[in-house]
Amino acid sequence: MKIAALVGSNRKDSYNKLLVKYMKEKYAGKLDIDILPIDELPFYNQDKEMDPPAIVEDLRERIKNSDGILFATPEYNASISGMLKNAIDWFSRVDLVMVNKPAMIVGASMGAMGTVKAQIQLRQILNAPGVGTLTLPGNEVFVGSVQNKMDEQGNLTDEQTVQFIDNVVDNYVQWIKRVEA
Ligand SMILES: Cc1cc2nc3c(=O)[nH]c(=O)nc-3n(C[C@H](O)[C@H](O)[C@H](O)COP(=O)(O)O)c2cc1C
Repeated sequence: MKIAALVGSNRKDSYNKLLVKYMKEKYAGKLDIDILPIDELPFYNQDKEMDPPAIVEDLRERIKNSDGILFATPEYNASISGMLKNAIDWFSRVDLVMVNKPAMIVGASMGAMGTVKAQIQLRQILNAPGVGTLTLPGNEVFVGSVQNKMDEQGNLTDEQTVQFIDNVVDNYVQWIKRVEA
């Protein structure tokens, strides 16, 4: 299954990037994860949405050709990052490429709560009419205190977290099959 991944951090050593890279390798037999370079998108501008920059067209196609979308969100000031919101805004207009795509959310932060507030908002955003993903219910992946749960190569080392994500990925695969049926 081809999955387009939107990661909301442009930081070089981003934990959310590492988490998605880890998932890309670990679940390669189940999910073919395509990490989209949303950090290269310009600021959304409604004046340009009918004739958007080439990168917008390219990423729209990659989402259109995917079986689902994986969102990985950091928490910035109790919300998602501007970068992730910017990408969602581009893909919610003209060509509604996210509508009815099965989605899964993960989030990592150094705080104990592990992006709880950001993910509550993200679920609300994904429910907007132009976005309209079919987001896997429940299955909330909050990786809090992530700096203590990953090694330097970005592998998750916390067994409980590993098992939980294993289980959520299986649920996501079932969810995609259910949506496609
Ligand atoms: C502008 C800004 C705001 C932040 N606000 C929060 C927050 O509200 N809650 C939280 O748990 N962490 C917050 N953090 C810390 C991030 O969780 C931490 O930097 C995390 O590593 C970001 O994700 P990344 O590693 O994928 O870049 C904030 C960080 C920044 C830069």
